[in-house]
Amino acid sequence: MPRKTLSVLGLRTTVFADRSEVGLEFSARRPRRDAAPVFEDAQPPVAPPVATSGGPEAAALAERVGALTWYHTLELPHGIVTPGYYDHRELLPRYRLPPRLDGLRVLDVATFDGFWAFEFERRGAAEVVALDVREKREIDLPPRTRAAMTEADLSFAFGRGFALAREALDSKVQPLHCNVYDLSPERAGMFDLVHVGDLLLHLRDPVRALTAIRSVCRGRAIISDVIFPDLDRGTGGVPLMQYQGGRGQNIWWRLGAEALRAMVEDAGFENVEEVSRFKYGQRGLPPSIWHAVFAAGV
Ligand SMILES: C[S@@+](CC[C@H](N)C(=O)[O-])C[C@H]1O[C@@H](n2cnc3c(N)ncnc32)[C@H](O)[C@@H]1O
Repeated sequence: MPRKTLSVLGLRTTVFADRSEVGLEFSARRPRRDAAPVFEDAQPPVAPPVATSGGPEAAALAERVGALTWYHTLELPHGIVTPGYYDHRELLPRYRLPPRLDGLRVLDVATFDGFWAFEFERRGAAEVVALDVREKREIDLPPRTRAAMTEADLSFAFGRGFALAREALDSKVQPLHCNVYDLSPERAGMFDLVHVGDLLLHLRDPVRALTAIRSVCRGRAIISDVIFPDLDRGTGGVPLMQYQGGRGQNIWWRLGAEALRAMVEDAGFENVEEVSRFKYGQRGLPPSIWHAVFAAGV
């Protein structure tokens, strides 16, 4: 049957022509492609941005926005909206964020284009730090994948969307180029609120990363990731996750929600609570990816 497959960050969403089936596949179900570059076949699912107000300045911004590939859907001046793969705007209520963050020092781990960091700034945070790696070479890649990549692949720069959005929004969010594993109070200081979304599935050692995140948290943490509820079914609460090996599109783990909870607890967080669970999807496609949001204290 004719079908269309879109893929980003390892999640392949297949839509059959008659819409009879929509599913998620992981790269490991396909023949192994150790050399596949990360984010390789990502295509923006929406039209280029259009300025709804303003003159040449707006047109220039729309052109710069249109020249980049976007992960996040960001509202910029002049009515310009970035054509992100994911649109978190409608999902915000599910994260149980405080309506105001006045006076707080906030960290957004793995910020990508910065949707969450800019949202924290909008809610009045005293200071927002947005952490991400600088180049693709810094992410967890299986050795064979890394060895097969060219220097151009490895030096692919993250953060161009973030930098443009920061400039357009006249934002004070502070970028921090740092691998999550290297996060420490000495490196970044302490934070009242720490947010990390959709990072752990991309890491070889999620508990080590969570432990580093815990080391800089003096208040609350909001931790969310892609989950696979089938892994929790009928296990009586046993935490399960399935190894994916970081191949294809850089997915290391298929997480059950109980495994995600256990890892957050084992990293030293207290009062770990699942605050929501919902399906979302790439913009323009039916929601098909399960997601769990956990809140935790220290
Ligand atoms: C799927 S995106 C998640 C974006 C955002 N956190 C969200 O929830 O919408 C994954 C992000 O993790 C970052 N990342 C991957 N490995 C990392 C590492 N070892 N340390 C810090 N960031 C990393 C990537 O550069 C990318 O920005």
